[in-house]
Amino acid sequence: MAASRGLTFFAARGLPCPEDKGRFKMQSNDLKGLTEEALPAIAAADAASLEELRVSLLGKNGNVTMLLKSLSGMDPEARKTAGAAINHVKTQISAAISARRAALDTQALAQKLAAERIDVTQPPRPDYLGAIHPLSRTQEELAAIFGAMGFAIKDGPDIESGWHNFSALNIPSHHPARAMMDTFYLASGGVLRTHTSPVQIRTMLDWAKNEGLGASPAPIRIVVPGRVFRSDYDATHSPNFHQCEGLVIGEGIHLGHLKGCLRDFLGAYFGVPELPVRLRSSYFPFTEPSMEVDIAWNRKTGEIGGGTDWLEIGGSGMVHANVLANCGIDPRRFQGFAFGVGLERITMLKHGMPDLRLFFESDVRWLRHYGFAALTPASLHEGI
Ligand code: PHE
Repeated sequence: MAASRGLTFFAARGLPCPEDKGRFKMQSNDLKGLTEEALPAIAAADAASLEELRVSLLGKNGNVTMLLKSLSGMDPEARKTAGAAINHVKTQISAAISARRAALDTQALAQKLAAERIDVTQPPRPDYLGAIHPLSRTQEELAAIFGAMGFAIKDGPDIESGWHNFSALNIPSHHPARAMMDTFYLASGGVLRTHTSPVQIRTMLDWAKNEGLGASPAPIRIVVPGRVFRSDYDATHSPNFHQCEGLVIGEGIHLGHLKGCLRDFLGAYFGVPELPVRLRSSYFPFTEPSMEVDIAWNRKTGEIGGGTDWLEIGGSGMVHANVLANCGIDPRRFQGFAFGVGLERITMLKHGMPDLRLFFESDVRWLRHYGFAALTPASLHEGI
């Protein structure tokens, strides 16, 4: 038996001392001393020490329990007064413990609520923010510009038939123009589309089939941003790159419309009003006449719209009569223009990017540098 400190109540009555268990053994065992000692200890306890106090006071060998047990050794008269007094103390202590526990619970809940509160006004952590790839951004910008000009956005499959990619575009199989593009041929007989122009064919066929001829005077006005593939790889060529095709078909559409459309589009995209655009005579099998599209720039500084140099950014022309006829559209009634621009090309020019290959290397440092904030969508109102 451990030496008990001040078990005066037991000693005074010649009773066996309870075992001295628990860290919070009370110093006093007379009722008054016990109460005076226990109540402030309870009021100051934290959750863990409160439980230890409860055990040492009211547990199996607790001071109060031992006092109650001691009643059996008393004569009836003494037992009556002592019993009432001990029970009063027990009630007091129990009530104090319950009150303290409730206070601690409330405090703990308040702390938890404060600690776990989510501040919805905090900005997202920039380290974990993704960015919009420059090519996606360019496509969004084209959608905003051409959307405002009344164009619809179309897409088509990456794997095309030779007919859609070549023949219907007036490039027959024996035609040397096929050699202009380093085509990926598939074992299935299809090709990976070498340009977005086959979507011209798909759109015209759909219109001729579904809407019928002679509907509205300007039945087709589309742009086709999308992936294209050629077997080519160096600093300015990638086997997978992107183009945006444009196609307008209607009655009385002429070359002036083509030039006006390109000027509006390129001026808006590069943010240079009155950007000089030059149409330079060229050859594509699916347009007649055909023209390369050049914009003015300064070769030394890279400034778009400044200087006296010209930079090629795409091809264009009036849709060839054979192409209209291949799609079931009467070329004597309908005319149109088409153009195609390289999306990497115009993105590199706009943002001063030197190497095309980095577009596809998923280098996070490059993406962080050239990427766009996800929460600022392209719009004409904000200025593209
Ligand atoms: N499809 C052509 C190319 O990839 C570009 C082009 C499109 C030219 C439309 C004229 C008209 O080179």
